[in-house]
Amino acid sequence: MSILNIKINMILAHDFGLGIGIDNKLPWKIKEDLDLFKHITNGHAVIMGRKTFDSLPFVRGLPNRLNIVITRDESKHGSTDGPDVIYADSIITAIFIANKHHDTAFIIGGKTIYEDSLKFVNGNIYITTVKTNHECDTHISEDFFREMQDLQFTRLFYYDYDKFIFTIHKRIKDI
Ligand SMILES: NC(=O)c1ccc[n+]([C@@H]2O[C@H](COP(=O)([O-])OP(=O)(O)OC[C@H]3O[C@@H](n4cnc5c(N)ncnc54)[C@H](OP(=O)(O)O)[C@@H]3O)[C@@H](O)[C@H]2O)c1
Repeated sequence: MSILNIKINMILAHDFGLGIGIDNKLPWKIKEDLDLFKHITNGHAVIMGRKTFDSLPFVRGLPNRLNIVITRDESKHGSTDGPDVIYADSIITAIFIANKHHDTAFIIGGKTIYEDSLKFVNGNIYITTVKTNHECDTHISEDFFREMQDLQFTRLFYYDYDKFIFTIHKRIKDI
């Protein structure tokens, strides 16, 4: 029996060229997509790399969510930054912290964390495909989507918005 009861999901947005970021920011600003992100992750734990945390417009993390920030900076491991931000030394530690406080967590990026944590996702992956080719310096790799296939993620939902396509993929194969 698993000691983890938590549902681990992932949420990401990429464009047609698989770009996800530039200058440590999102390359686009699409209100409907930000609203979806907020609605889906609100009230849950969010797990992210330190660079993504630095890119947030909120100094104390995303409001109304437990922000778990992964860093190699040993001086920060286990420390907090206000009531809703805690630092972890690895993805596994971040998942254990989330499991203590919440029943649902979302991995919210960036590239390194998405690619290294896909195998831990036992719930859904929410993907926004922005209908443009933005200039980006950070891309999600094609291997990420091959790994999604290997792990038998199956598309549950598809909706074609004006500026982006939104899909939900559920993991069928057990971890
Ligand atoms: N489009 C989207 O949905 C989306 C979502 C999120 C982010 N982004 C974009 O993605 C870009 C950032 O992605 P990124 O890959 O450069 O950075 P990132 O994954 O956000 O953060 C990387 C940092 O996380 C820490 N880290 C990573 N792996 C670790 C490990 N195994 N153990 C311990 N710490 C680890 C390290 O922090 P330290 O350096 O502190 O040790 C590393 O420098 C930005 O442009 C951002 O805007 C896009």
